[in-house]
Amino acid sequence: MKDLKNCTILLVDDTKYNIDILVDALRNDYKLSVALDGLRAIEFVKKNPPDLILLDIMMPVMDGFETCQNLKADPVTHEIPIIFISAMDEPENITKGFEIGAVDYVTKPFNMAEVKARVKTHLSLKMTQDEIKKQNLILEDKVHARTIELEKMNEQLRNEITERKKMQEQLIRSKCLISTGQLAVSVAHEINSPLQGIVSLLKVMEIKHREDKDFTKNMDMVNKAFTRIGDTVKKLLDLNRPGKEKKQRLNVDDILDDTLALLKSFLKRKKIDITVNQSQNLPDLVASPQQIGQVFMNMINNSVEAMIRMPEQQNHSQGFYTHGEIAIDTFEDNGNIVIKIVDTGPGISEEDMIHIFEPFYTRKKKIGMGVGLSICHSIIEDHNGTITVKNSEKGGAEFQIELPVN
Ligand SMILES: Nc1ncnc2c1ncn2[C@@H]1O[C@H](COP(=O)(O)OP(=O)(O)OP(=O)(O)O)[C@@H](O)[C@H]1O
Ligand SMILES: [Mg+2]
Repeated sequence: MKDLKNCTILLVDDTKYNIDILVDALRNDYKLSVALDGLRAIEFVKKNPPDLILLDIMMPVMDGFETCQNLKADPVTHEIPIIFISAMDEPENITKGFEIGAVDYVTKPFNMAEVKARVKTHLSLKMTQDEIKKQNLILEDKVHARTIELEKMNEQLRNEITERKKMQEQLIRSKCLISTGQLAVSVAHEINSPLQGIVSLLKVMEIKHREDKDFTKNMDMVNKAFTRIGDTVKKLLDLNRPGKEKKQRLNVDDILDDTLALLKSFLKRKKIDITVNQSQNLPDLVASPQQIGQVFMNMINNSVEAMIRMPEQQNHSQGFYTHGEIAIDTFEDNGNIVIKIVDTGPGISEEDMIHIFEPFYTRKKKIGMGVGLSICHSIIEDHNGTITVKNSEKGGAEFQIELPVN
């Protein structure tokens, strides 16, 4: 808090004699300034606001009342305490003085001891008020800083809760994936053994009746049907494959090249463009080549099936017509090998996005069983990796696989 000795007082009076008396009485205790009329007092106060003003009322040009009203109307000066010192001792003038904002009113001829006492009281009051204001500002600053800190912590907490919820949902979904997959696999096993028996029996019958043309024709149809059942059973058994295939040191780019070589003519026939962007020197990882190849196969198959339902479009750079494009990128990021597969198909609706990794979730009316992505999911999980999906900027599906470099 400011020391009273450092307080400044402005004395305003048009009578030099009065000024001299006040200066004599107060100069040892405070820093004093003087103005001889209201206008000059206002000008001075705006530049050097004092801690207190002693203001005469009867003055030429602008009287003390008007001067006081002016200072009280200005937000910069309205808090400076004003004590009127006047010969006008009528009650209505004193009342008016207080009404327009003065803190005190001393009548002339004044008793100097009384003036000194009042000045000291009002200055002490002003200093206390200033100190409270200063402390309030410091407190407000502290509250503001703490509020920002709390908001940040809140935001962090909200993010953590969302992240945990996501992880919980993922856990529930992958548990559901596992139990549905296991159920499907045990059913497939049950079907598989009698199926093998029937197929062997059919082979024997085929040999026995190979001369009978009608029988052979019907047998062809039966064989086709059984091949389909066999494929379905194989797909179901694949749901439980992870962990059974032998893992070995391999390069993901090599597996991708092998898969694409197998699919080359299929993609051409289906009028699908493929662009591959492989980063040089991708580190090896320990994985099952069959399973990683199967993941690529399933993903590319899905993109093809999504795009062939779309009308053909001209490939601008090459001039021919295609159903769309699959772009595959491989690169290393933060200890992971990343494989990005983006197509220009219709993309995946928000509702489907939540379910597509679940077994038997399909939108395909005839061809799909809905197990492709579920198999990919369990294979990638078995390799301690992640597979995620979103729609690309152009609207097609964008799958991202991340496999840790062991
Ligand atoms: N690239 C893609 N673009 C658009 N939709 C896709 C894409 N990949 C998958 N989907 C959607 O996800 C569903 C599930 O895919 P998933 O591979 O698991 O099963 P499926 O392809 O329907 O059948 P299956 O793979 O067993 O033959 C698909 O039916 C399809 O609706
Ligand atoms: Mg599929």
